[in-house]
Amino acid sequence: MKKLHVKTYGCQMNVYDSIRMAELMAEEGYVETGDVDDADLVVLNTCNIREKAAEKLFSDLGRLGEIKALRASAGSPVVFAVAGCVAQAEGGEILRRAKDVEIVIGPQSYHRLPALVEGAMLGRRAVETDFPAESKFDHLPPRPATTRAASAYLSVQEGCDKFCSFCVVPYTRGSEYSRPVPDVLAEATRLVASGAREIVLLGQNVNAYHGASPDDGDWGLGNLIRAVAEIPGIARIRYMTSHPNDVDDELTAAHRDVEALMPFLHLPVQSGSDRVLADMNRRHTAADYRRTIDRLRAARPDLALSSDFIVGFPGESDADFTASLELARDIGFAQAFSFKYSARPGTPAATRADQVPEPVKTARLQELQALLAVQQQRFNAGFVGRTMPVLFDKPGRHPGQLGGRSPWLQAVHAEAPESLLGRIAEVAVAELRPNSLTGVLTTRGAA
Ligand code: SAH
Ligand code: SF4
Ligand code: F3S
Repeated sequence: MKKLHVKTYGCQMNVYDSIRMAELMAEEGYVETGDVDDADLVVLNTCNIREKAAEKLFSDLGRLGEIKALRASAGSPVVFAVAGCVAQAEGGEILRRAKDVEIVIGPQSYHRLPALVEGAMLGRRAVETDFPAESKFDHLPPRPATTRAASAYLSVQEGCDKFCSFCVVPYTRGSEYSRPVPDVLAEATRLVASGAREIVLLGQNVNAYHGASPDDGDWGLGNLIRAVAEIPGIARIRYMTSHPNDVDDELTAAHRDVEALMPFLHLPVQSGSDRVLADMNRRHTAADYRRTIDRLRAARPDLALSSDFIVGFPGESDADFTASLELARDIGFAQAFSFKYSARPGTPAATRADQVPEPVKTARLQELQALLAVQQQRFNAGFVGRTMPVLFDKPGRHPGQLGGRSPWLQAVHAEAPESLLGRIAEVAVAELRPNSLTGVLTTRGAA
């Protein structure tokens, strides 16, 4: 029996791709192992979004070199494949820089992995970073009935045509592509049949979705969500990541009408300064973003919001940064991510002369993160004493405990029998922890 070890860096789309690659290799007789020393094939599914993320690959490869040498001298060689966004961005440079790597494979070519692995066993090194005309999805095997994840990712859209001036994604994932509606529904149905109660629709720019529909039309994300909600047995739907400019009336109405669509939305804003937003090529202002939030909140009053911020974008002044703080303060996020700007080779902002000094970035990041942490605590504190449905999806911190998610994506822990894994049960929230809520099961039982 051959063994496969996959390490995933980066976003949810990479997590999804890793699962699909493992399923593909399972057809070739590979079983997954968590133990890298034990693997015959190691796939590193990489992220290129910030410099730190990309460098992680090369530091990991350094450490893995020892395994490579040991296995070769023991006569049972291991094949190393680099997949994902660094593979796409660096291509053959990875083979030159890392002698232990046999395969470099971009995100649109995963269906070619078995053939490349076969070649690698015969000593052939290969780089596969074309954007093939046909969709990789048409070449991947259908999802097995054994997925058994309470919450399952499903990529419906890939790539991005927005070209924000800081971002590598349009270069690493290519141009926008939406999977046809029937394909999405078929995959969602299989995931639900294999035990998923929640489906998370994924895309680099998921609300730009416009998939071919059964009625020979073109559906946006809002209509897709309505159709997914019809699948018997599905309890929850989420989607990520969205762009503010693609929140249309169809999607807003879905937040109003579709009960299974969870009241949580991750909607990156990046900055509160119109000047910085323009330089970022975001094509929206801070006021546009506020209006979009107003419309969404009118449709779904309990909608919790999350966002991404970049601090220290080239040319960002103190006043620009203050505008980001103000926007965060006004919106009131349930949670949010914030990053120091990282200059990425090949992106327009990277070559600007007015880069912000590192200590300024650090100070701004601290200030913003402190504000966001307070907001998150305040948001979560509002739930103490309330009862909420929790989808239990993993063991808890202690024996006898399970961990799960609230509709608003809060992590919730409660004493609960293992039989509730993969199910939704009502929990009375008792206590606020730094990054989670704890509570007790109510007697209203499970669904
Ligand atoms: N498609 C999504 C997310 C893209 S990457 C969107 O459009 O929002 C996730 C987040 O990483 C971005 O929202 C942004 O905040 C951050 N990011 C992207 N490029 C970056 C860079 N060069 N430096 C720092 N943060 C970056
Ligand atoms: Fe990157 Fe998102 Fe902008 Fe696309 S919309 S370029 S993925 S930040
Ligand atoms: Fe990273 Fe690529 Fe996702 S750069 S964030 S893995 S799309």
